[in-house]
Amino acid sequence: MADITVQPKHFLSDKVEHFTESVIREMTRQAMLYGAVNLAQGFPDFPAPAEIKRAAQKAVTGDVNQYAITWGAKNLRHAIARQMKEWQGIDVDPETQITVCCGSTEALISTLLAVCNKGDEVITFEPFYENYGPDAILSGAKPVFVKLRAPVAADGEWTFDERELRAAFHNHTKAIILNTPNNPTGKVFTRAELELIRNLCVEFNVLAITDEIYEHIIYDGAQHISIASLDGMAERTVTIDSLSKTYSVTGWRVGWAVAPPNVTNAIRKVHDFLTVGAPAPLQEAGAAALGLQPSYYRSLATSYCARRDRLMPALGEAGFRCFRPRGAYYVMTDISEFGFTDDVAFTKYLVKEIGVAAVPGSSFYHDPRDGARQVRFAFCKRADTLDEAGKRLQRLRKLLKK
Ligand SMILES: Cc1ncc(COP(=O)(O)O)c(C=O)c1O
Repeated sequence: MADITVQPKHFLSDKVEHFTESVIREMTRQAMLYGAVNLAQGFPDFPAPAEIKRAAQKAVTGDVNQYAITWGAKNLRHAIARQMKEWQGIDVDPETQITVCCGSTEALISTLLAVCNKGDEVITFEPFYENYGPDAILSGAKPVFVKLRAPVAADGEWTFDERELRAAFHNHTKAIILNTPNNPTGKVFTRAELELIRNLCVEFNVLAITDEIYEHIIYDGAQHISIASLDGMAERTVTIDSLSKTYSVTGWRVGWAVAPPNVTNAIRKVHDFLTVGAPAPLQEAGAAALGLQPSYYRSLATSYCARRDRLMPALGEAGFRCFRPRGAYYVMTDISEFGFTDDVAFTKYLVKEIGVAAVPGSSFYHDPRDGARQVRFAFCKRADTLDEAGKRLQRLRKLLKK
């Protein structure tokens, strides 16, 4: 009889060998297992705005239950185009330039699958949001990393070396993935930095794929600038955004990609065969949400700033060196003072013994050693959640080097 043993890897694609499951999502499972305060995954533990929930209820009651147009409900696409014009001065045709997807997660993978060929390179700044590496690999491309360097001064900014960035661009470069405001560093790219990236994109004929899902969560007078608004970039940018963070509805899974018409055609094809469409009633609710007054966005940023300023002193007192974020809702920290040389061992200790879940820094770098002294905390939580985490973290002081 023929040998019927199946080799362990026989049914598997080679692609999945090159990345692991999400560490961030794993940390949430660990938080539940140990009853820890979850400052790992970036989802709010407070309610979403009443208006958007009412709009969702109305859509379900009104029987918006069937597939929306594959590339997005008309109402939502028109609301997205209006908002891009109002906030960034960018002209977008909602009929030919917008694809609504299941979260910005699907918008990004659909974009990469739509534009990458085998052998293409995709540049990403690191530390990076952990989906970017696997997404590049799944689309057949090779990720190329350019370092963001942590600030030396307490109040400094994360920066990159212009020469290093230039050296990453060449003939096989298809795209650069940009994320501003940035997860995990909280960096908000300045106009000068974006212009530099623009110049390289134009010189090397490269597409900018920009993840701007934290666009409204900015502090200390920082200004969010969409790279698509710079001269010469509208025709070479895919702008990705979503309802998740701006309206505290990460579980609704509604996001979008805005791109030139020919790129949009390709994204729509991939999106259609991946998911057909995003949840129809929640797209209608999204259209209502995008119509909220400017005061909503101002108070969103102010309330997150208060959360940042509540958590950071507690982290500092516990012994972390914090890198002050200018946007998004995470604090990257340095853990050198605790005597651990391994961030994963440290976060395991944190979740099990201290009762707080955080994300090991290594999950944001392609070489884990680069993040071995860093840990990220999310502060998109209620004041009492942050206070409880702060209280528990003080127990770490016993580990501090004298
Ligand atoms: C930078 C960044 N992009 C994308 C996502 C996922 O967003 P969505 O819920 O729209 O898929 C996250 C979630 O934390 C994120 O931090």
